[in-house]
Amino acid sequence: MRRPLVAGNWKMNGTKASIAQLLGEMKAGAASLQQVEVVVCPPFVYLADVQGALQDTTVLIGSQNICDSAAAGAFTGEVSGEMLQEFGCRYAIVGHSERRALYGESDELVARRFAAARAAGLIPILCVGETLEEREQGITEQVVARQIDAVVALEGIAAFAQAVIAYEPVWAIGTGKTATPQQAQDVHAFIRRRIAERDAGVADGLRILYGGSVKGSNAAELMAMSDIDGGLIGGASLKADEFLAICKAADS
Ligand code: 13P
Repeated sequence: MRRPLVAGNWKMNGTKASIAQLLGEMKAGAASLQQVEVVVCPPFVYLADVQGALQDTTVLIGSQNICDSAAAGAFTGEVSGEMLQEFGCRYAIVGHSERRALYGESDELVARRFAAARAAGLIPILCVGETLEEREQGITEQVVARQIDAVVALEGIAAFAQAVIAYEPVWAIGTGKTATPQQAQDVHAFIRRRIAERDAGVADGLRILYGGSVKGSNAAELMAMSDIDGGLIGGASLKADEFLAICKAADS
């Protein structure tokens, strides 16, 4: 049995005040969840606040990125795994499509960030997904395979025993246009098969999250699919009631 996981990617949103309010509202609701693992991924500058606010809860913290170098030093603008550990992070998102598209992160750089997360004892959440153009060209599986294979090439298949994959079709992110449960399931099943070709046991235990316009109202039908093990939530993770509704859908 794979334990469901719902992670909120806050992206570059929030203020000290709005985050305090969001976490206050979330904490009350999260206490009644049974099975689902809940993670929030704030902007780096708020990690200390979030760590303090979540101290006495089961809600975990993740980062939105991580430096590919394990060693401290001259890497202006980057944050190391060791630093993230110090602020209570358990997970690290790597390869989000916004990093790939807006900041030019290559498959190889994403793979190195994945490796750095593992080296620091963090669980990487590797984001993969195709653009609308790629879907229309019929190359979704090739794109996702390429993104995964770059990590397998660097880290080996066993690394996925301590990792999470998030399938986020770029055309569904922040657009209100969710993949249908079947569209998502098809790609999730492909991802699991791709991993299973190298290691069936790892594939069986691997949690694959869906991300892209998940809301309280569409979460249950997505979570009901056999290869969808949770969600990576953007916009809806900024509203406590919406986020908790998604967590509940994954919990049951
Ligand atoms: P939305 O839920 O806002 O579509 O964002 C998804 C996402 O990019 C999560 O990482």
